Amino acid sequence: MNDFVYSYPTKVYFGQGAAKKALTAELVKFGKTVMIAYGGGSIKKNGIFDEICGLLREAEKEIVEFSGIMPNPTYAKVQEGAALVRERKVDFILAVGGGSVIDCSKIIAAQAVTEEDIWNMEFMEHKYPTEFVPMGAVVTASGTGAEMNSGAVITNEETKQKAGVLGAYAAFAVLDPAYTMTLPEKQVISGAFDTLSHCMETYFGSPRETTLSDEIGEAVMRNVIHNIRALLKDMGDMNARSELMWASAMGENGILKIGKVTDFQAHQIEHQLGAYTDCNHGQGLAVIHPVLYRHMYQDGADQFARFARNAWGILEEGKTKEELAEAGVQALADFVKEIGMPVTFTEMGITDKSVLQKVADSCNLTAGCCKKLSREEILEILEECF
Ligand code: NZQ
Ligand code: ZN
Repeated sequence: MNDFVYSYPTKVYFGQGAAKKALTAELVKFGKTVMIAYGGGSIKKNGIFDEICGLLREAEKEIVEFSGIMPNPTYAKVQEGAALVRERKVDFILAVGGGSVIDCSKIIAAQAVTEEDIWNMEFMEHKYPTEFVPMGAVVTASGTGAEMNSGAVITNEETKQKAGVLGAYAAFAVLDPAYTMTLPEKQVISGAFDTLSHCMETYFGSPRETTLSDEIGEAVMRNVIHNIRALLKDMGDMNARSELMWASAMGENGILKIGKVTDFQAHQIEHQLGAYTDCNHGQGLAVIHPVLYRHMYQDGADQFARFARNAWGILEEGKTKEELAEAGVQALADFVKEIGMPVTFTEMGITDKSVLQKVADSCNLTAGCCKKLSREEILEILEECF
């Protein structure tokens, strides 16, 4: 196991009525002006906006609205939000939405208190913000786990990069599974697949010997697989929704990463695909993962064989290690089909094949879980995904 330091700044309120409990207890710690940041309006249709604003008024807060945060939030939107925070002297940002709203808010929280351009600061000067407008997160779409980490994925339309930027941690997170009830089925499943992806990208990192983090990761993966199936039988299954919501937070709150160097090569490829096509994150991952792992499993046969046994319950029954490892990758590919996710970029609606070269040329190459890929092999993988 690698050395580590672990502490957690985000307080989690989970379950029915969590927003009332959280806002009543937490908002007294912050100033009067609260900016509610949200997306394209789903929270206005489903009543969450009214409920949250009611709680803000009960807490005697002045409300500033910042709306229109798009899926795959842009850097321009971050700048718009930061300008509003400065203009209205906002004391606290309350992000109400999925990963996109929470991510955008994390970087607004950093950009609003510095004259420096956060993108340049992080990517050119390799300096990271240390001061933020405090913020909280109310999750309405789970999967990314954005509520429990300080990373944000932002699309810079000028530079054609979709990249991880470090911003604020939420002081508290509200996870009420009932808030996800109006989320379209496609988004529920693609969010849950994103969680599975976070677990896999961590699991296949290094070190190669199995750690406690890997064993916890296996439990989270089994849980996600089981509860996606349960939810597809009954989208009203609140227990399955609750499990998936907590699994989502567990996937990205750092616990599975303790003592590990993660891989995240699938994410690096998918993010650049997103930069060029604005595609859905979970869907992109569902297409990429099985193809990527077919290129990798032989180099990491021990861990892929473990994955087959412990995530998918595949029995060894005379299989060689490589055959078992391959069966695990096949089980993942079969699962993608079973849960109705796309298996090709074409099925996702991506028609312009010329983006593949651009993605291969611009995506980050990770240290590699068991195999460091070349740009040529990434292009091959992308072509196999088409
Ligand atoms: O904008 P509104 O109208 O709210 O609609 C949203 C949006 O269209 C809708 N939605 C959310 N809650 C709803 C709802 N519709 C009905 N009822 C509700 N309760 O869902 C759509 C998608 O929302 P979005 O926030 O984009 O989805 P998701 O949570 O999957 O977030 C995706 C973004 O997070 C990044 C992705 O790259 C992508 O940009 N990620 C962030 C990570 C992180 N910070 O840790 C890690 C991930 O790997 C990921 O990269
Ligand atoms: Zn993800």
